[in-house]
Parts: sequence; C-alpha cells; structure tokens
Amino acid sequence: MRKFLVCFSLIAPLLGAAELAGTWHFESPAQTGPNGQPRRGFQANYVFKVEGNKFTGVSFTPTNHQDVIDGVIDGNNITFKLRNEWGNSGKGTVVDYKGALNGEDLTVEPANPPQNAGRGGRGGRGGGPVTLKRISAETEYKMPPEMAHKPFGSFQPIKPNGLALTPPMGWNSWNKFAGRVTDKDVRAIADAMVSTGMRDAGYVYVNIDDTWEGPRDKDGNITTNEKFPDMKALADYVHSKGLKIGIYSGPGPLTCAQYPATYNHEQQDANTWAAWGFDYLKYDWCSASGVYHPDEMKPAYQKMAVALRNTKRPIIFSLCQYGWLDVGEWGASVGGNLWRTTGDISDRWDSMLRILDLQPGREKYAGPGHWNDPDMLEIGNGGMTDTEYRTHMSMWCMLAAPLLAGNDLRSMSEANKEILTNKEIIAIDQDKKGVQGVRVSQTGDTEVWKKALAEGMAVALMNRGADTANMTVKWADLGITKKNPKIHDVWAHKDLPSGAEFSAQVPSHGTVVVTVK
Ligand code: GLA
Repeated sequence: MRKFLVCFSLIAPLLGAAELAGTWHFESPAQTGPNGQPRRGFQANYVFKVEGNKFTGVSFTPTNHQDVIDGVIDGNNITFKLRNEWGNSGKGTVVDYKGALNGEDLTVEPANPPQNAGRGGRGGRGGGPVTLKRISAETEYKMPPEMAHKPFGSFQPIKPNGLALTPPMGWNSWNKFAGRVTDKDVRAIADAMVSTGMRDAGYVYVNIDDTWEGPRDKDGNITTNEKFPDMKALADYVHSKGLKIGIYSGPGPLTCAQYPATYNHEQQDANTWAAWGFDYLKYDWCSASGVYHPDEMKPAYQKMAVALRNTKRPIIFSLCQYGWLDVGEWGASVGGNLWRTTGDISDRWDSMLRILDLQPGREKYAGPGHWNDPDMLEIGNGGMTDTEYRTHMSMWCMLAAPLLAGNDLRSMSEANKEILTNKEIIAIDQDKKGVQGVRVSQTGDTEVWKKALAEGMAVALMNRGADTANMTVKWADLGITKKNPKIHDVWAHKDLPSGAEFSAQVPSHGTVVVTVK
C-alpha cells in the first residue's frame, strides 16, 4: 500500500531557503461523478515539504501518484521533477517542473508545458499552473484507509480455465450505448441477436460494459443503479434466448466511467456475478493505477481470475489494460482468456488502422484459450463505409481476434448484417488451429496477410490507398508448395481459378480474402 505521510513539526527556517520553509499544500475542489459519487480520480493533491535546503514532496490523485525527485531551491525559486511510475503505459516517466514563491503563494507548473496540456493520459494529468498554500499546523496526509490492500505473495502462474478455445464472439454495449445502456436495451439486443441471425452465426455473449454499477450495500455487496433493476432476471432472460451474458468491472476503486469497481471486494463481487448468472467478465484497469504499483498489475489480475474460479461457474476472463507492460507475455499466466492490446478503438478508418498496425509481433501470444484483443468491432456504427467495415471484419478475423459487435443490432443495415454474419470469414477467425495471422508484405498502400488454418491458409489482400489496386500474390512466396491449390473468395462466396499465383482488383480501403487449400 502506498502511504502519503507528511508529518512535520515547525522547524526554525534555515538560511537560504528560509522563505520557503514549511509544508505546502494544494487540493483541487472535489468533483461529482454519476450518481453523485465523488470523481476522486480528478482531485489533484500536492504536498511539498521544505526543510532547510531539502525539498521533497508528492503529487497524487487516487488514480495516480508521483514523487518529487531532484528538488532544488534557489532563493524563492524551485525546480524539481515529478516521477510518474504509471506514465508511458506503465513504464514510468519523469517530467520537469518549476515553481516560484510570490508573497504567500507557491505556484508550480511544468517547465516545458506539453503542446496540448488538456487531459493527461490515464494515470497522468494535464499541466496547468497550481498554487500551493503553506500549512502551519502539524498535519498528516495519507491515503484514505479503504485504499490500502494486503501485499501480494510471490507470483505463480495458474493453469488455463479451459474456456475460449476459439476467440470469444458476442456483442458489447460500450461502442454504441456507452453510459446510456439499460436493462431494456440489453433485452432488445438479445432479441435481435436471435432475429438477425447473429446468434446462429456464432455470436453468443451479450456483454454489459461500464455504467451498470450502483453503490455497495451495508455488507459491501455491489448493487446496480436504476438502469438495471434486476440483474438476475436480466441474465435469465438472455440465457432463455440461448445466449450467454457478460459483465464489467475493474481491479481499482472506480471504473473508467467513475462507477464503483471491485478493489478489495474481489471474491465478493465474483460471487455476486456468479449468483446473478454471468458468464464473462471484462476487467478494466482504470483507477487501479492509484492503488497499485506497476509490479502489482499481474497479481491484481490473477486475484480476480482465482476469485472467478472459486465460484465454480465457467466465466471467461477478459483483461482490459490497454496492452501495457507487455501483457501478452503474462496475460495467460494470470488466468486471462483475452487481453486488450491497445487503447480504445473509435469508429473511424484511421483508428481501426492504428490498432491493426499495433498487432504484428503479438501473434506468438495467441492460441486456444488465450487471445490478443484489438478491441471491439465498430461495424454498423456509421463512421466508416461498408467497404471499410468489410476490411475491419476481414482483418479482425485474420488476427483471430475476439469478435464483439458494438452496434445497435435492432437497426443494422442489410450490408452490415451481411458483413457481421458472413460465416466464411467467421470460420477463418474461429479456425480451431487458433493461429493469429501475420503481415507478409507491404508495398506502398497495399499489404498481404496470411493466417494458417487447420486445413490450408487464409490470405488477405488489403488496400489502404485512395485508388483501386491491382494486387498479385505468388503462392510460393507464402510457403504454399501445393500445385494448383483450391482458391475460394470468402466475400464473393465463390471458387476461383487455380494457378501458381493470384491477382485481384482490390478497391480503395477494401480487402479481398481467400482461402487456399
Ligand atoms: C475503457 C475501456 C473501454 C470501455 C470504457 C468504459 O475506456 O477501454 O473499452 O470499457 O473504459 O468506461
């Protein structure tokens, strides 16, 4: 547990730094989040201490903690660095600050303000000036007691749970509904999963993302908010449609949308979700940076994996920590069935490509039971063309990615329904060999990907350019030695003439996918 203990007594100011002697404090006003909860992640605190020429301190919010290092006093001016152990995706950052005493105010700010000093990244914060006041009584600052946790023991990998032998398929509420999702929506989506043929195409999980949570009751049990009056009844309804149901929380005190999360209630929450009938958990890091050090991320995730297993209910465990700290190296060892590899997708061609480009190299981590997760699908949300959505689907299937639709299934177009329910492209994703595809070559705006299948290979020809591209791939270059293999176009649904190579006109932003057997 981290302690912010700054005990001090009144010290006779020493020469040199006399004016600055004492303890300095800043606390931004509390903000209120959904349901009137304090938005604690947004409350910044600075506590600096000047003793003689020694200058130490800490800057913290409950979602972050930064130590002052290299504090230097020069007359009425100070310079120092803030070390953020969670900066740069958990690898740590050090940022230079400067400050000056003006009358009774000590104003500090970044020495080199970032260009867009708005919102800091997760675990960071934007960089405007902040004014600290001297506090003259003996004062103690520490994390609230509910922020403490027992130290973790030595880390031991755990065995796979036997679930997700092919990438999980289903739907998730976040991309379309975000904080507006309700019980009614989830029931309607379950209905639509059946009526649109999504269920029969393999989409099974109906996953509720953030914003279902209510306060804890007097015994510490998590409750729902008014949008979800009866989770057990909702789970029963979803199950009655031949579907499964998923829920969301995180290892920190608050979710990303500032609702209560699971910190220090791991087994209790797992028991609650199992009793409600949940089959899938997405566990999102968010505020956990405020209560854990980077070396505690693995055991914090494993703690939940163990809690889920203790319930005896088969529950898929989805890690969401944005790919930090080389999660592929350890995601399976903490009991994860899938782990996000990047920050959030948005419904734009460039966002989808940015995420795609962060996948090569991770293929070694994917396999039956444990998958890289390039985030949920945006197909049908309106920000891309149908051709681009076909590329999105093609590439997620080439990656053996979890396929979680994120659109409103009640109103999807025929074209988008066809994309999402194309059984031939889905078969590539769900192939039982469980191999993640790799990029074979890139030439200008075009690229070729291949994915080994239980029988044969899937090959994708993708065109990022503004014009149609005439692309050719020689099978020998992909390691296919068989003469005259059987070629099948999975979007055109037709067999193609065989030969030693294959050529296709690939439209701008489009992808042609064939199986070669
Ligand atoms: C994070 C996750 C998203 C979503 C939101 C919910 O941003 O990465 O996928 O779950 O939190 O608040």
